[in-house]
Amino acid sequence: MSVATVSNVLNRPERVTARTIERVMKVVEELGYVPNVAARQLRSGRSRVLGMAVLNITNPFFAQVVLGAEEIAEKAGYSVIVGNSYDSPRRESRYLELFEQQRLDGVLLAPVNDDLSGLEPFARRGVPVVLVDRVDPRGLFVSVSVDDVRGGQLATEHIVATGARHIAFVGGPWSVAQMRDRLEGCRQIAHARGVRLSEYQTGPLSARLGREIAEQIAQMPAVERPDGIFAANDEVALGILQGLVIQGIAVPEEIVIVGYDDINFAASAIVPLTSVSQPANTMGLRAAELLLAGILAPDQPLVSVRFEPELVVRQSTHRL
Ligand code: RIB
Repeated sequence: MSVATVSNVLNRPERVTARTIERVMKVVEELGYVPNVAARQLRSGRSRVLGMAVLNITNPFFAQVVLGAEEIAEKAGYSVIVGNSYDSPRRESRYLELFEQQRLDGVLLAPVNDDLSGLEPFARRGVPVVLVDRVDPRGLFVSVSVDDVRGGQLATEHIVATGARHIAFVGGPWSVAQMRDRLEGCRQIAHARGVRLSEYQTGPLSARLGREIAEQIAQMPAVERPDGIFAANDEVALGILQGLVIQGIAVPEEIVIVGYDDINFAASAIVPLTSVSQPANTMGLRAAELLLAGILAPDQPLVSVRFEPELVVRQSTHRL
C-alpha cells in the first residue's frame, strides 16, 4: 500500500474507493494512528469536519435530524461536531464561534430563533452553510425545511373533522418560526370553519409544560374546556395527554389531541398519538448532502429542499 494511497484516504477520501478506505482504516486502527486534524488542515486547507448546531438535541426530532446528517457525512469521510443549542441563542452563538475558530469545512444549523447574524463570518469566508428546519427569509443560505403552515392546517382540519368546536393551540415561543407557522395554519382553518380557537403561548416546549397546561384545562368548568387540542410538537402533546389522563379526562372521548413530529414515542403512548409527521432523518440526510455539494463542488448552484408534512391518525383523535 503506497504512502500516496494512505495520504489520499486520510486527506482526500473522495479520490479513493470505499474498499481502499476500509483497508487503510483497518491498518490505521491496528496501529492506533490518530490523524492530526490541524496538520491535515494546514496541508490540504480542509478539516474534513462539519459543524452542526441544533435547537434542542433532547427532542427526538432533532436527534433524528443529526443521525441523518452524520450518516451522509461519514460515508463521505467527514466527521460532525454536534452542538446542542438547548433553546439558547447564547449557546448557539458559542457553537458558531467555535465552528468558525476551528475553520470547519461547513455548517449545518437548526436555529433557535430568527437571528442568523452568527452565520455572517461563514458567508464572508465563503464557507457553505445549510439551514435545517428553517428557511432564510433573505435567501442567503439554502435550507431543508417542512411547510409548517400546511402542517398546522392538516392538524386543525383533522380536529374539526372529529367534531371539535373549541380548539386550543399550545405552542411557542413565537421567536421560533416553526411555532408561528403552525399557529398560522391553525388560525386559517379555525377561522374558515368558524370554530373557537384559544391560544396558549408557551416557552420552550416540553412534556412538563404539557402537564401544566393539562392541569389548567382540567381546572376549567367542563363547558369552558376545549374539545380539541393542537400541540405544536409531540413532547408537549404527550405531556398534555399524560396530564389529562391523570386528571380523569378521557382522550379522545372528551378531548382529542394532535401533536407534531411523529416521534417514536407518539405511537407507543398510553393513547397512541395522532401527529403531523416530519421526515426528520431524511431532512438530516438531505441537509448534509447539500452541504457536502457546497464544499466539494463550490461552483455548482445549490437548491433548497422543502418537504410536505403528513398527518398520521391514531387513537388520540379516534372519534371518527
Ligand atoms: O423545536 C420545536 C419544534 O420545531 C420541534 O419539535 C420540531 O417540530 C421543530 O420543527
